[in-house]
Amino acid sequence: MLSAVTKCLLSNSVAGIRMMSHSSLSGKVAIVTASTDGIGLAAAQALGKRGAHVVVSSRRQANVDKAVELLRSEKIKVTGTTCNVGKSEDREKLVNMTLEECGGVDILVSNAAVNPFFGNILDSTEAVWDKILDVNVKAAFLLTKLVVPHMEKRGGGSVVFVSSVAGYQPFQALGPYSVSKTALLGLTRALAPELAQSNVRVNCVAPGIIKTRFSSALWASEDMVDEFKKQLSIKRLGEPEDIGGVIAFLCSDDASYITGETVTVTGGMNCRL
Ligand SMILES: NC(=O)c1ccc[n+]([C@@H]2O[C@H](COP(=O)([O-])OP(=O)(O)OC[C@H]3O[C@@H](n4cnc5c(N)ncnc54)[C@H](OP(=O)(O)O)[C@@H]3O)[C@@H](O)[C@H]2O)c1
Repeated sequence: MLSAVTKCLLSNSVAGIRMMSHSSLSGKVAIVTASTDGIGLAAAQALGKRGAHVVVSSRRQANVDKAVELLRSEKIKVTGTTCNVGKSEDREKLVNMTLEECGGVDILVSNAAVNPFFGNILDSTEAVWDKILDVNVKAAFLLTKLVVPHMEKRGGGSVVFVSSVAGYQPFQALGPYSVSKTALLGLTRALAPELAQSNVRVNCVAPGIIKTRFSSALWASEDMVDEFKKQLSIKRLGEPEDIGGVIAFLCSDDASYITGETVTVTGGMNCRL
């Protein structure tokens, strides 16, 4: 089957070019938040390898410098700045710098999240909820609001939120974080119809357990990994690249008829409501 498809593409160069151009992001400018490590960095790499100019950011300058150096070594067009997405002045700085240095913006990947609380949900405080909702939900919306007028000037664009499998089925001891991730599923659906009028697509990815620093407490021991594997069809934990490619797909013209959707990328974990 695969060899037949390859043969067809080789003998039909127009189809080949069409396929390539639809996944290409050449000429696009992509802001990816929290992109100096883990899933955000993998998304920046996937977008950059498809030709986008990526704007990477996170809270710490040293992390930004390291990510910029890595992406440049991979021949990716990249600009970097610090941005704590929970601060309005930082969000504005990120968008203004993108406009000044890259001439516009076509793609927003809102990836940043925090989780300052483990425990019974009734023990969580107002300060915990404020922090989680500010960074994980409100910042995603407010950044979208900042970039959409500039996407409209370029004829459209694409927004991708990074939710979690926990948004479908709350993880034990991670109640407030899980609820914030459910809110992103709703935000995706609330924004998509309104922004479709401006040719801006809004989608979401819900990763399963991906091996990053953020999730390290979940895969700290072999026993825990074995326990998770029982819930998976693909018997390994995910890697950041497993998510980066899906994000790049959602931002590309290959996904031009997809909006308001959340794609679960979980290795087959049963997570649908
Ligand atoms: N890993 C998983 O299993 C998993 C599963 C489902 C969903 N997710 C989601 O995936 C996203 C990324 O997580 P990850 O696992 O890739 O994390 P990670 O590897 O630990 O990377 C976190 C990144 O976020 C930056 N960051 C942290 N707080 C920030 C803030 N307030 N503003 C801007 N940048 C910030 C960090 O850099 P600085 O320290 O320099 O700020 C770093 O670049 C999150 O939304 C998370 O909820 C992860």
